[in-house]
Amino acid sequence: MPKLNWKKKDEKHTQKFNISQDVSEFQVLESNKNPVIGNNNFNEDLLKVKRSQSHEHKKKLMDWNNLLIWGENISILRSLIPTFSNKIKLIYIDPPYATGGKFESKTFIGEGKTFEKKKAYSDIWDGGIDEYIEFLYERLLLMRNLLSEKGSIYVHLDWHVSHYIKVIMDEIFGKENFQNSLIWAYPAASAKTRRFFIRSFDTILFYTKSNDYTFNDDPEIYMEYSDRVKFALKEDEKGMFYYRGGSHNGIRLSQKVYITNKGIFPRDVWTDIPYIRANTMEYQAFSTQKPERLLKRIILASSNKDDIVADFFCGTGTSLAVAEKLGRRWIGSDIAKQAINISRKRIFDVWNSNDLMDWKKKYLRRAQPFEIMKTNDFKQIINIHKDFLVKNIGNKDVISLIQDSKFVVQISKKGSKITVDLVDFIVSNLNLIKERVKDKIRIFTDWIDSWSIDFNYQEHSFTTAWISYRTLKNRKLSLTSVPYNYEEKGAHKISIKVNDILGNETIQDYDVFIT
Ligand SMILES: C[S@@+](CC[C@H](N)C(=O)[O-])C[C@H]1O[C@@H](n2cnc3c(N)ncnc32)[C@H](O)[C@@H]1O
Repeated sequence: MPKLNWKKKDEKHTQKFNISQDVSEFQVLESNKNPVIGNNNFNEDLLKVKRSQSHEHKKKLMDWNNLLIWGENISILRSLIPTFSNKIKLIYIDPPYATGGKFESKTFIGEGKTFEKKKAYSDIWDGGIDEYIEFLYERLLLMRNLLSEKGSIYVHLDWHVSHYIKVIMDEIFGKENFQNSLIWAYPAASAKTRRFFIRSFDTILFYTKSNDYTFNDDPEIYMEYSDRVKFALKEDEKGMFYYRGGSHNGIRLSQKVYITNKGIFPRDVWTDIPYIRANTMEYQAFSTQKPERLLKRIILASSNKDDIVADFFCGTGTSLAVAEKLGRRWIGSDIAKQAINISRKRIFDVWNSNDLMDWKKKYLRRAQPFEIMKTNDFKQIINIHKDFLVKNIGNKDVISLIQDSKFVVQISKKGSKITVDLVDFIVSNLNLIKERVKDKIRIFTDWIDSWSIDFNYQEHSFTTAWISYRTLKNRKLSLTSVPYNYEEKGAHKISIKVNDILGNETIQDYDVFIT
């Protein structure tokens, strides 16, 4: 079988690549288990009761938390192997595509429509295509290890590199395990060129680990009938609709083909899923965000309820939100703190997102418990995005001064109940922040994107008990927490976390005593 060669391929590793090297411990940064949501549009009574759970389902979920992992995914993948080798049913990845471009996202400020654009991630490879292929190759090897025997992997790419990656996928997963080169076409694509045809599709490579893999013929994945079929429909004497079609050995049969309302079993060209638009509920103002409908088809086809679905380049968390709503367990990771912050809020706010089975309705269920983690070897001191800072300060010490922001709260006690009010937020070293950003700040709350409270803080592990967060569609922040009732008398520690628009987290602890 022909194989692809690139610089460094044989120098560093082959299929024998040592996957047990450099395993790091995971550190839990935040645990989230049904926190009280303090947003003004949240109403517990609106939520649907939990689906009834079978004994087997309960057992599977007993010790399980979904995982959102911040960091470099090569180290995350290696560190997942001891626990998750052969356990993940479906991997979807939408990595950088070696486009040579920089992708933007918008950070909205305060309650209005003001925003700041900033770089979301860079897709520039100094070592050219060789470096890119090497990058993906070593990660795909690790992903193959994590995939269960009945598992599938979908790699989302475009014209830049899909042909190269197809060849390395054949090498890693086996040519015989190739299932589809899916074309996701978005005809509304626009470009100024008149020198070649406008590029308007992505390629999603679908491979399985073996020949015995999960693939569901679920009506929810079906495509709508084409216009050609719809125009040709005729009604029979019983009121059933059909068209004439079908062929055998090149001979047209003109048989009656009856249609059902579920549409047709999907072909490998998907034209029925539009690109994300700014007026949709799912829009996260992140330029490479993918539509939930796309992930719905993939996840329903290639996994079952409670299976583990993973996305190691999760961006805004599209695949995680869809896996959540379809009752799958999920693992997501991203190197950008901003992507982790967006995914975190998206999961908290999942109750308020589209119901995938009835698009006009809201999902109206809480997210299953999830943890935010990082690997111990991942040390990123600078969270503040450079785009927010005045030019020419690359010095870490200077940047860490801004990270020393402070906030002021008022803690009120009434019997065994504690309420917290957020009354001020002070960014240190304001002179290091761009005038353009500062000009957009009118009141202290404009700095804040979300804030949360752990009323029973145990050293090193923040458990969200209450949170208020801004979303793109609901910019209001609650400044007063819901009263928290302590059942136990004595000393307690409260930890309060403020996530600001610069990308920083400021955490302060307080002691309370209940008599
Ligand atoms: C194309 S975007 C994913 C968009 C996502 N599918 C969505 O719907 O929002 C690629 C993501 O990969 C992340 N990324 C790039 N290199 C990474 C690495 N080495 N480890 C983890 N994440 C990485 C980027 O930060 C970016 O968020």
